[in-house]
Amino acid sequence: MFGPIAFVPLVLAVAASAQTATPSFKNVTGTSNITFPTDVGFAGPVKYEGLPLLAQNDTVNSTAFQGNGYGVEMRELPLNATVDKATPDDIFRNLGTTSPYHAADDLFPETNAYRSMPEKCEIKEVHILHRHGARNPTLSAHEASFVFGSTVMNASKAGNLSASGDLAFLNDWNLTIGAENLVHQGAQELFDSGVKHYYDYARLMQNYTEKLVIRTTSQSRMLDSARYWALGFFGWNASELVNLEVLTETSKQNDTLAAYYSCPNSNKDSYFLGDKLSSQWQEVYTQAPIQRIQPMIPGVKLTPSLMYGMMSLCPYETVAMGYSRFCELFTKTDWENYEYDIDLQFQGNYGFMNPTGKAQGLGWVVEFLTRLNGSAFHGRVSGQNTTLDKNSTYFPTHQPLYADFTHDDIIHSVLTSLNVTQISDFLPATKPNPNRRYRSSRVTPFAARLVWEVLDCKEDKNNTSSYIRGKINEAVIPLNEDQGCAPRPDGLCKLQDFWSHQWKNAPKDAKFNLVCFGKNGTDFQLTGPHQALQLLSIMVVQRAAKQATNWKKIIPVEVYPIVLLTGLAVGVAGWQVARCARSPDVIWDKKNNPTPWNNIEQGTQYKLWNIGVRIS
Ligand SMILES: *[C@@H]1O[C@H](CO)[C@@H](O)[C@H](O)[C@H]1NC(C)=O
Ligand SMILES: *[C@@H]1O[C@H](CO)[C@@H](O)[C@H](O)[C@H]1NC(C)=O
Ligand SMILES: *[C@@H]1O[C@H](CO)[C@@H](O)[C@H](O)[C@H]1NC(C)=O
Ligand SMILES: *[C@@H]1O[C@H](CO)[C@@H](O)[C@H](O)[C@H]1NC(C)=O
Ligand SMILES: *[C@@H]1O[C@H](CO)[C@@H](O)[C@H](O)[C@H]1NC(C)=O
Ligand SMILES: *[C@@H]1O[C@H](CO)[C@@H](O)[C@H](O)[C@H]1NC(C)=O
Ligand SMILES: *[C@@H]1O[C@H](CO)[C@@H](O)[C@H](O)[C@H]1NC(C)=O
Ligand SMILES: *[C@@H]1O[C@H](CO)[C@@H](O)[C@H](O)[C@H]1NC(C)=O
Ligand SMILES: *[C@@H]1O[C@H](CO)[C@@H](O)[C@H](O)[C@H]1NC(C)=O
Ligand SMILES: *[C@@H]1O[C@H](CO)[C@@H](O)[C@H](O)[C@H]1NC(C)=O
Ligand SMILES: *[C@@H]1O[C@H](CO)[C@@H](O)[C@H](O)[C@H]1NC(C)=O
Ligand SMILES: *[C@@H]1O[C@H](CO)[C@@H](O)[C@H](O)[C@H]1NC(C)=O
Repeated sequence: MFGPIAFVPLVLAVAASAQTATPSFKNVTGTSNITFPTDVGFAGPVKYEGLPLLAQNDTVNSTAFQGNGYGVEMRELPLNATVDKATPDDIFRNLGTTSPYHAADDLFPETNAYRSMPEKCEIKEVHILHRHGARNPTLSAHEASFVFGSTVMNASKAGNLSASGDLAFLNDWNLTIGAENLVHQGAQELFDSGVKHYYDYARLMQNYTEKLVIRTTSQSRMLDSARYWALGFFGWNASELVNLEVLTETSKQNDTLAAYYSCPNSNKDSYFLGDKLSSQWQEVYTQAPIQRIQPMIPGVKLTPSLMYGMMSLCPYETVAMGYSRFCELFTKTDWENYEYDIDLQFQGNYGFMNPTGKAQGLGWVVEFLTRLNGSAFHGRVSGQNTTLDKNSTYFPTHQPLYADFTHDDIIHSVLTSLNVTQISDFLPATKPNPNRRYRSSRVTPFAARLVWEVLDCKEDKNNTSSYIRGKINEAVIPLNEDQGCAPRPDGLCKLQDFWSHQWKNAPKDAKFNLVCFGKNGTDFQLTGPHQALQLLSIMVVQRAAKQATNWKKIIPVEVYPIVLLTGLAVGVAGWQVARCARSPDVIWDKKNNPTPWNNIEQGTQYKLWNIGVRIS
């Protein structure tokens, strides 16, 4: 099953021999600008930040050496640092998905002692799913940093800002951050990552004679991120070694690295459950800072979302301008609450608390499983561009190293689709649990990376088995039964166990066509956030009750005993769910479509939905 493929793409061979003597790195990390064009358009809007002058404007006591290797200033302390025994980490490691890259050294402490490669194992293959590096804020309507910034600028222009105390700096402050693009700190993060991965994995390519295909999307920061990474890994002659495949990131394009475009429901406001939770939580935690700060800025009426916007200027100005006066205005507790705000957004929009979470991750997961298998792509079709994936030039499945560049939300959805329940904490909008495992700053800081390593390990003198292990920002995931693995202290899992479990369960759990294209109110009812684990139970209960007449169509006769047992267990679970204060978020009622989605055989072609729904 895990055999290699002997097919050598002709086009690549031709492209390689037609190469000019001086390969240009200017705009292509691949040499064939026809087969692998990098200027595919759809870079998205970009606004560059003002020019920094940290040498002059740094407000931190600069007699202390910076020491973190980065150009930007991250020595600021939270307000009341002495009382709270706070360090700069209490700011810069608590910025959710806008945290500068940091290894997740406290995410899975139970595997930290097992991070080095077991002696009996040899690494064979690596799959990297990489987030872009630090960027300016996006231009989405929800971008509170711009709303706060322009509110201040307008008040200033109108001459009624009159900020005082700790906020006096605002009187001659200027909103100079840009939008959407990768900033220099982000370029550094990706270059550093390329360098690190070179040291970690370069020898895997020793006998690989073809050009590696690595993938990214057309968005400006995505293309830049992939290039800086390639530069760090391969050096100036990256273009001789790599074909960079740029997937178009825009509406109506299938792109597993920007999967929201092929999951129309996920783009509807009513599905952004995390945003709703975030608004609720903002009403709670911003009260204290508003009370404290409002008197210092009478010209601007601070609301919860403006306060959130003010806080988010700390991470954004830091990476765009090199430092930010906003960081020191807030206490350690304020920053912990801010981080929780972002946790709610991500777990609620793309993770275990959103029914589209698994669906948005499935496309990449199927690609990943196909690569692990070393076979040609033959589904499950779930938002992949099959024109590309069915062509081994664009979707080779026998590489020793894969690197795909993507967004934070996709990494969240992929982990959700792979059922990494180790981070599936249900997050209430009322109060953070300080002992929760899930933290967006640990899962997808800027330049986050989800890495899967395939290892051959000696079982005894004569036998070797293939294993897999996963790392989230270097922390080894303690894989368990929920991913199909027998738990071990070192987090290793038999490759075959992991693969079969995921191949069977991931599509079943994700219900891609139903979730992404189904009609709320007809095919199911969306009532609020919940853990996806329980969704499945809810759905089965509903079907059993409502579709008695279609019973035989839904479940093959041979699995009746299992279904009955599961039904019993599920009934109890359903009862417990109903007893919980929080209501289930999705009630499935597919009476208009009795298609047995759950029982489609692997690899078969199917088309459940006629796609009429598209995002605008
Ligand atoms: C793209 O490829 C064509 C054909 O090989 C070549 O003539 C052209 O110079 C290339 N352009 C760039 C910018 O590399
Ligand atoms: C590459 O850069 C050149 C010069 O800037 C430009 O003319 C060309 O369109 C770019 N694109 C590709 C795919 O070579
Ligand atoms: C703010 O900065 C921008 C860009 O650096 C500059 O064009 C503008 O004049 C500045 N505005 C003020 C009020 O300083
Ligand atoms: C940077 O320093 C200059 C000179 O001290 C000052 O005029 C300017 O207002 C400062 N800019 C910011 C954003 O603090
Ligand atoms: C600045 O830093 C130096 C060295 O750490 C320290 O001795 C000094 O007290 C600091 N000064 C202020 C004003 O914080
Ligand atoms: C700072 O600490 C003091 C002493 O514990 C406390 O009274 C004050 O409320 C704190 N300030 C903030 C903003 O938390
Ligand atoms: C490459 O081939 C050589 C010679 O067969 C072998 O010793 C080496 O282990 C191979 N390297 C890899 C990474 O497979
Ligand atoms: C698939 O990719 C091809 C080649 O880039 C592109 O022309 C096509 O529009 C894509 N189709 C979809 C549905 O994304
Ligand atoms: C795009 O994704 C949809 C949903 O899975 C699928 O039906 C369609 O065939 C895909 N298009 C291409 C060109 O792969
Ligand atoms: C795969 O893509 C290459 C390069 O675009 C093209 O030449 C080839 O015909 C494609 N193969 C198939 C089977 O479509
Ligand atoms: C390993 O293989 C050798 C030779 O085939 C055999 O004698 C020995 O018993 C085997 N050892 C184990 C642990 O299976
Ligand atoms: C996820 O874990 C739950 C609970 O153990 C299990 O019921 C489900 O089948 C798993 N799904 C996948 C995709 O592994």
